[in-house]
Amino acid sequence: MKNSRILGTGSYLPDRVMHNSELEQLVDTTDAWIRERTGIERRHIAADNETTLDLAYAAALNALDAAGMQPNDIDLIVVATTTPDCVFPSVATMLQAKLGVTNASPAFDVQAVCAGFAYALGVGDNFIRANAASTVLVIGAETFSRILNWKDRNTCVLFGDGAGAVVLGASDEVGIHSTHLHADGRYKELLHVPNGVSRGYDVMQQQEAFVQMRGNEVFRMAVSKLHEVVEEALLANNLEKSDIDWLVPHQANIRIIQATARKLRMDMAKVVLTVQDHGNTSAASIPLALDTAVRDGRIQRGDKLLLEGFGGGFAWGAALVTY
Ligand code: ACO
Repeated sequence: MKNSRILGTGSYLPDRVMHNSELEQLVDTTDAWIRERTGIERRHIAADNETTLDLAYAAALNALDAAGMQPNDIDLIVVATTTPDCVFPSVATMLQAKLGVTNASPAFDVQAVCAGFAYALGVGDNFIRANAASTVLVIGAETFSRILNWKDRNTCVLFGDGAGAVVLGASDEVGIHSTHLHADGRYKELLHVPNGVSRGYDVMQQQEAFVQMRGNEVFRMAVSKLHEVVEEALLANNLEKSDIDWLVPHQANIRIIQATARKLRMDMAKVVLTVQDHGNTSAASIPLALDTAVRDGRIQRGDKLLLEGFGGGFAWGAALVTY
């Protein structure tokens, strides 16, 4: 049985940067409140004519280049997104066409909100382990700004847009040691976009097309479930906390990240933080953080990484990786 390895990483952020000061003009909030409660200082917002597909495409090109691969080398595309361009086709199939992939290999989206990248990585890894693919493009891409109510201070200050990508390749060496995916659907009301296609767009109340969150309850659940899943990943691999070189967490809130780092007894210097610059980019946040630390030289080949994410559903997951 083959293992999968990360051959290259890539990312893309829209040009437009929205600072906290701009949000002070939109809702009753302050830069100080946002920084203190979340760690966020700024976020990127997609241009009106820029879609999730555009973001995914730019990140994909970047990752293919880093991996030294051509689009037609890819034999599976998995895109994690909650903000697709259309109901169908999937972003993944549109991306396949945009990249010029003509080998008829499968392409599909997965939807697990902020845990989306962990889920997509799990899918890509298991396709390779099952010998059903040998080179997989795994992407997290979001235009979350499009499902925000810009009058709701509870949510609009938290999110941003972006995309991150990895190319996975079949290998005799172990890259992805294990992925650990979970969901508990009983908590829908705490974090959701209440309406959607099947419930009928014609009767849709505008506020029901946007994210609604009971932040405090989500916060407590995120800390607890992330602790459980990182312990599970370590145990499954017979590793100690001290074996981990880098924590690459989902970037929702610096206080959630600090809580996970404390449980792992990790110095914050060993935690990749992008929340201050990107906000919460949902499925894009883990691969964006990963690519940032790979490109600035912090993460080196051979380093042990613990990736983790938690979000709507609830859905959560972790991956233990040798880069
Ligand atoms: N500016 C100023 N005040 C605010 C703002 C704001 N932007 N937002 C809320 N407040 C107020 C509240 O109204 C409340 O006021 P009150 O005490 O008068 O009622 C007060 O601040 C405290 O509110 P809390 O919700 O208790 O604040 P908390 O410290 O929990 O921080 C936050 C809120 C940042 C949302 C935090 O709970 C959080 O990060 N939650 C988890 C988010 C997350 O991880 N989501 C999962 C991923 S997202 C996904 O899957 C789509």
